[in-house]
Amino acid sequence: MIKFHEKSKTFHLYNEHISYLIAVEANGQLSNLYFGKQIKDKEDYSYLMTKRSVILAPCSFHNNLSFTPELLRHEYPDYGRGDYKTPAFILEDKSTCSEVSAFKYDSYKIIKGKEKLSYQPSVFGTDINTLEITLKDDLTNATLVLAYSIFDNKSSIVRSAKFINNGKNELNLKKALSMSIDFYDKDFDFIQLDGAWSRERHININSITTGVHTIGSTRGSSSAMHNPFFALKRQTTNENNGEVYGFSLVYSGNFIAGVDVDNYDVTRAFMGIHPDTFSWNLKSNEEFLTPEVIMVYSDKGISNMSQTFHNVIKNNLITSKYAHTPRPILINNWEATYFDFNEKSILDIAMQAKELGVEMFVLDDGWFGKRNDDTSSLGDWYSDKIKLPDGVEALSKKITDSGMKFGLWFEPEMCNIESELYKNHPDWIISTPGRDLTYGRNQLVLDFSNKDVVDFIYNSMEKVISNSKIDYIKWDMNRNITESYAKNLPKENQKEFFHRYILGVYDLFNRLTTKFPNILFEACASGGNRFDCGMLYYAPQIWASDNTDAIERLSVLSGTSMVYPISSIGSHVSACPNHQLRRTTSLKMRADVAMIGTFGYELNLNILSDEEKKTVVEQIEFFKEYREVIQTGDFYRLDSKPNYFYYQIVSKDKNTVLLFAYKVLATANPGMKKVRLVNLLDDTYTCINNKKEYYGSELENFGLELEVEFTGLLPAKNYPGVSYSGSDIGDFTSQVYVFKRK
Ligand code: DGJ
Repeated sequence: MIKFHEKSKTFHLYNEHISYLIAVEANGQLSNLYFGKQIKDKEDYSYLMTKRSVILAPCSFHNNLSFTPELLRHEYPDYGRGDYKTPAFILEDKSTCSEVSAFKYDSYKIIKGKEKLSYQPSVFGTDINTLEITLKDDLTNATLVLAYSIFDNKSSIVRSAKFINNGKNELNLKKALSMSIDFYDKDFDFIQLDGAWSRERHININSITTGVHTIGSTRGSSSAMHNPFFALKRQTTNENNGEVYGFSLVYSGNFIAGVDVDNYDVTRAFMGIHPDTFSWNLKSNEEFLTPEVIMVYSDKGISNMSQTFHNVIKNNLITSKYAHTPRPILINNWEATYFDFNEKSILDIAMQAKELGVEMFVLDDGWFGKRNDDTSSLGDWYSDKIKLPDGVEALSKKITDSGMKFGLWFEPEMCNIESELYKNHPDWIISTPGRDLTYGRNQLVLDFSNKDVVDFIYNSMEKVISNSKIDYIKWDMNRNITESYAKNLPKENQKEFFHRYILGVYDLFNRLTTKFPNILFEACASGGNRFDCGMLYYAPQIWASDNTDAIERLSVLSGTSMVYPISSIGSHVSACPNHQLRRTTSLKMRADVAMIGTFGYELNLNILSDEEKKTVVEQIEFFKEYREVIQTGDFYRLDSKPNYFYYQIVSKDKNTVLLFAYKVLATANPGMKKVRLVNLLDDTYTCINNKKEYYGSELENFGLELEVEFTGLLPAKNYPGVSYSGSDIGDFTSQVYVFKRK
């Protein structure tokens, strides 16, 4: 519901869960009165913005100390007119070089439903109404449109801002965040997802204090260092209780996000394109639309916030036809072969996997050009006829004829100096004239801000795809951008480069997904260097991390699931000792972790023992049985203790409940452990593992007592009657419990 109360000049966006209140202030600016749990609608909530006078504070009106922009809780703060915190935008009038603008409320519009955009990712759906508030700057004739889309029945609002130059003079948008909101107080903890290559999205929680705290990326991708997400939670909030606000940027490029807490304890939260590497020229009649931010409110804890994100992403963001389809179990050859394979070794891996129940084979890096290591061939998207004499075309046919699906790896944005592409188009790489090149994994980035480059890559990919039998594409991206410069742009537009680059990436995604709607896309960037809502618009799953170690993956899973649905988290079982950590974990543990995701294997299954192969068959059978629950059910992170991770997934009909319990290190002579489940019906549930029956309330309030851990009674023959199941002995163990509602 969206209401405008004419007398009090307040907008009230609300549904059964949330309220969002915006006021038009006396000087024409917008202020934020409230965002949180639903409050009843009424004509006048203007009292929520107390007007105070403070000496020294700038006042908007002469001889009136009561209206001070410095003390306003702004909705989309401008620069240079009395608000001294982080501005949401800076718009320069190029005729005067002034950066001061004064947007005043003009009008509003309510739009039913929300359409998809083709040139950049956007939330869509018929269960959404959008309020567009138009503001105008009299001096420059610029227009600012703030959009707020509220769902009929989800605890979420989507925001964006659009700048239109209706004047004659050229304007330069030096900063254009997607959202800014001022909260009344600063009693929050800031949740961010941090990491690096192979340890992405670890949860990091700190209390906030006066001053500015930001996260972001200027690497050209959203990055593994900081995910384009943050949340503000109350100090007492935990996974399943309390208030939390989450913000996720629908964007894959450079971003900034953070809080600015002032000396009156007002917390400004903000998010959008990183202003350090951005500006956008607006000639007369041109416009600029920011990426969107999905904002979520929960008063039922962090897991509930995550579920709302999952719900929005699955139903209103992923455009792929596979959004709600259980994903195929795959075998990927990367960790099995790296670059060293030929058609026979690939077919051996694929056929063995098929025999064990795997549904799709994915041919990773190394199939094209003369790619025997990472120094050559990126950009040459045609088969290496030495490794694959009849090409990917024939290989894909052999594999699909066997009844398996076939997937192929590409890294469309990249080029090696040793490549036909570079020989023919050396000017297509990103480089600054007169400066040395900087390499990353021996490769260079193609200038995707140039449409000719995108056209060329589209055509070469389209050819391979059309001539082969392809069900899946893994789109990789393995370096950060340096020496940013667009040779096809005039000098005054150079700071548009990074945004234009990512629009080029979206353009290629859009063309490929439109031409090949039946192909399942998986995004990837050295693992999770670009795991964001922008990518999910086109690719419903993303390779979460190059780290396939089960223990590391638990942290990656906890952080990733904070925003992104389980069906989007690419996860595989790999060989041990693990290639990234040299740690050895059991096959059971590896599969029990990889199952919370898309699930697949990334090792040569031929070299497993018969017993291990039998285990793989059982794992695949188990996953097939519960895949739909795992990938479409409601996911909860249960409050975990140090050393223990617990997750719960409940099917939509609440008939099946899965409890995943993991132990990292064994403790000497440990006590018993129980886990309290959440959000069950108070019916009877049968635990398939121990055949016992429990009431939902019993599992919620007492909890399930986990298997007895090893207590040190050896040698076993001295202790008749004492037995352990064998699966909870030692370090790195896991249990998966299944409950069926009677
Ligand atoms: C990085 C990816 O994350 C890996 O899974 C693999 O595809 C390699 N690139 C191939 O170069």
